[in-house]
Amino acid sequence: MIPEWKEIMSVYEDLVNHRTKLSLVGLGYVGMPIAVSFSKHIDVIGFDINNDKIEKYKAGIDPTNEVGNEGVKNSAVDFTSNEERLKEAKFHIVAVPTPVNSDHTPDLRPVEGASHTLGRNLTKGSIVVYESTVYPGVTEDICVPILEKESGMKCGEDFFVGYSPERINPGDKVHRLETITKIVSGMNDEVLEEIANTYSLVVAAGVYRAESIKVAEAAKVIENSQRDINIAFMNELSMIFNRMGIDTQAVLKAAGTKWNFLHFFPGLVGGHCIGVDPYYLTYKAEQLGYHSQIILSGRRINDDMGKYVAESLVKNLIKAEAPVRNARVAILGFTFKENCPDTRNTKVIDIVNELREYGIDPMIADPEADAQEAEMLYGVKFTDIKDIKDCDAVILAVQHDVFADLTPADFDKMYGKNDHSKILSDVKGILDRKTYENAGYIYWRL
Ligand SMILES: NC(=O)c1ccc[n+]([C@@H]2O[C@H](COP(=O)([O-])OP(=O)(O)OC[C@H]3O[C@@H](n4cnc5c(N)ncnc54)[C@H](O)[C@@H]3O)[C@@H](O)[C@H]2O)c1
Repeated sequence: MIPEWKEIMSVYEDLVNHRTKLSLVGLGYVGMPIAVSFSKHIDVIGFDINNDKIEKYKAGIDPTNEVGNEGVKNSAVDFTSNEERLKEAKFHIVAVPTPVNSDHTPDLRPVEGASHTLGRNLTKGSIVVYESTVYPGVTEDICVPILEKESGMKCGEDFFVGYSPERINPGDKVHRLETITKIVSGMNDEVLEEIANTYSLVVAAGVYRAESIKVAEAAKVIENSQRDINIAFMNELSMIFNRMGIDTQAVLKAAGTKWNFLHFFPGLVGGHCIGVDPYYLTYKAEQLGYHSQIILSGRRINDDMGKYVAESLVKNLIKAEAPVRNARVAILGFTFKENCPDTRNTKVIDIVNELREYGIDPMIADPEADAQEAEMLYGVKFTDIKDIKDCDAVILAVQHDVFADLTPADFDKMYGKNDHSKILSDVKGILDRKTYENAGYIYWRL
């Protein structure tokens, strides 16, 4: 017999009256800020399978830098790697990774794994909301059957699901969980209201009720696909204008004076979202017999940009009549994006690998990056920026705020007393081109 909605749909009321708890499954860049934010209002269990991470959080260390050590120390989140504790919660949020395999197909193992864990510990009347970025259909077609099998309960009768994509931007202190409109969706109107009310506790910017779970899933993947395609267009323009000897940034500045010109810039597209999510969409499209043309060609362009940056540097070494093999090159910045310690899926490694093909083993300095992670993932050891000297060329690869303070005098110190011009690749174009050209540099940017 299906119970009355009123009987089972009091999860929100139970949360605010501390009669039940909310759980976060997956405490990374996304899950951690959500857990901390909710813990200011309701009881929160923070669960992760990575016990080392849990121990760090318990010790008041935030390796993601998203909430900071103080934020973790002062939070009321009950951190655990004991899945049994999930039984204490009736509102579950899943924020585990959704990477791609080496052939660019979705790797759903973490989402499936989290669903198995949750299913084993699910109690009657619970709501499970997925936040991980997926293609339309993953929540209902892949996760729900796992939850049902593991719990022995029926979705829509005994427990309920929803989907709410995450839009935070790690390292960005302006666009945060609280200040970004949150898309919410649920398997029916009543569940949607419970989910909307719960998120409204923490999202001051408000919630947007999507028409269905699949609509919400699709909205997230296309946001990032749109960005990817637009950046790919800028990267293509940059390759064309470099051949023409025209500065792309100057072209974009001029074109940007038109009211409907879109403001995107060339650059490396790494990380776990923009460079990955489009593959989720094209994978599903392919299963349905549609072969992406625009999305995948954008992906191809962006995936090759690290190689292009390295090749352009080598051409400039040749232009300067500097030896290429064993040239001393320093790379400033290694993370996949600015002001963020995360080095996973960084495209700077593509620059490193391509330079190595030319017999150049670059030094790398990144005061923001997680050095331990970089060494573990790539075998890369960082050099202190103060120890960068005697270079033939420098690549400013990531737009960290700490690099914005570097003056021409700081750069001068990084080069040796060479017979050739100083070569500077300012990948994101954050320095003043004329200053360096007037100082005799061979200055290059995308
Ligand atoms: N980081 C971003 O910028 C961002 C932005 C929006 C959306 N997203 C999406 O959010 C999701 C999470 O991303 P993230 O950056 O927080 O990932 P992350 O790698 O930083 O964190 C994920 C956490 O989940 C844990 N985990 C993995 N499998 C688990 C399991 N079976 N049970 C419990 N915990 C498990 C990991 O140990 C890790 O701590 C992804 O789908 C991502 O695409 C990320």
